[in-house]
Amino acid sequence: MTEDLRALAQEAIAAWHAREDPDYPKFHVAPPVGRLNDPNGLVVRDGVYHAFYQFSPFHPDRALVYWGHASSPDLTRWQDHGPAIVPDSWYDRSGAYSGNALVSGDEVLFHYTGNVRRGDGGRETYQCLVTSSDLATFVKLADNPVISGQPEGYTAHFRDPQVWADPDGGFRMCIGAQRADETGCALLFRSDDLRSWRLEGELRFPDAGGRFDAFGYMWECPSLIRVPDVDGERMHDVLVFCPQGIEPSGEGFENIFACGYVVGRLDGADLRDTGDFFELDRGFEFYAPQTFAREPDASGPVLLAAWLGTASEDHQPSVDHGWVHTLSVARELRVRDGRLLQRPVVNLGAGRDATPTVSGELADGEVALDTLAGSRSFALGFTLDPAAADGWGLRIGTDASHVDFAVTGNQLVVDRATTRYPHGGRRTVTLPDDRRLRVEVFHDRSVTEVFLAEGAVSFSMRSYLAEGAGGVRLRAVGAVALTDVSAARFD
Ligand code: FRU
Repeated sequence: MTEDLRALAQEAIAAWHAREDPDYPKFHVAPPVGRLNDPNGLVVRDGVYHAFYQFSPFHPDRALVYWGHASSPDLTRWQDHGPAIVPDSWYDRSGAYSGNALVSGDEVLFHYTGNVRRGDGGRETYQCLVTSSDLATFVKLADNPVISGQPEGYTAHFRDPQVWADPDGGFRMCIGAQRADETGCALLFRSDDLRSWRLEGELRFPDAGGRFDAFGYMWECPSLIRVPDVDGERMHDVLVFCPQGIEPSGEGFENIFACGYVVGRLDGADLRDTGDFFELDRGFEFYAPQTFAREPDASGPVLLAAWLGTASEDHQPSVDHGWVHTLSVARELRVRDGRLLQRPVVNLGAGRDATPTVSGELADGEVALDTLAGSRSFALGFTLDPAAADGWGLRIGTDASHVDFAVTGNQLVVDRATTRYPHGGRRTVTLPDDRRLRVEVFHDRSVTEVFLAEGAVSFSMRSYLAEGAGGVRLRAVGAVALTDVSAARFD
């Protein structure tokens, strides 16, 4: 008898109690059981945010990836809906891998990669289409796959389609690929009907002086997005992608696989006027981001979310409670001076107001933010004028178990060595010289995301403090002026 994979996943969810784990986050998407990795099919529909994600309900016993589904009215209060795409077809039997959403008429269309592992150790790759009119039932196209295998000259590492409607008509797809010579690239396809696709060619970078010709061995999760400038007047084309195999270079690229972007101007299959490749987030865990699709002609900010995990870090404390990994909070993107700014979007109104009374001049020393005392899930924002200070810092947690952010001059040092997270502890980030220091901190049980310099720098990570450790202290070396403080408690 063939297995009922949907029922098996639902049983796994029903049998588990991940939410009782004190490390389970309050306002980040996490799996109800098993493993989560990339965000998929992010979409805003009828004012509701939907986050699908790579979901392995039987982890670690059996590696089989579904799409899970969560939704939220405000990107803060999430409800899980269980499995959406189930890998029960011949073309996705080893996993329903990553892809995106496209709203078309009354339907949401999801493209994803069907992964098939062969008995001889090889793999086959199929691009597939699923439709849904209610986001409760998901129907695989009877004629799947829409692309079988990979084009000549490329290996079976061909996955993670991003499909969008071309304003000039028809549809385009950007997909991650590996050339036969084992260098990474993104391929572009075109279609008039979303059923038959023709290869347009590789995405080229004519103004980059060869910078991206041999840039890693595989590009995962590439997406071409349009992002407004901070002044709102210009739009930029931005390629977001995850090149595997980029060596660490002094500071930066320290995670196992890099995740970043190139700003340019898309002209056919050419990304012109390109800047350099910048990492999206400087934290220990951040990968495979994508942006929320919207209804055609709907306006709204460009919102991006990522997986706060990396390929080599499944071993962490939550595994003992039957779940692992989370998504990031959503971030609104804009471009300033050729680089992305990220503004976190969290509804503080969903928590309890906990704005501390500290404000104005902070003298040399340390101040505990009393309204957040002991809190293990909170948001905190403030503006600093560090010009008068020699340095400043934040300690989340206790002296025995904490995450530290310490800024001296334009050097930020982040230290999580005293947490229960077993994969690496300390990192240095050079902040931009012109740093308007709005600071936003989101600490949510076992996840911490910090945004500095109006979102020019973001730093995301897992941060399992000792049991019960919480709260936050601000430190000043010399006088620091503190204004516009806001805070909310989620526990
Ligand atoms: C990135 C990735 C994708 C793939 C998916 C499989 O983390 O490897 O390339 O589609 O995860 O879960």
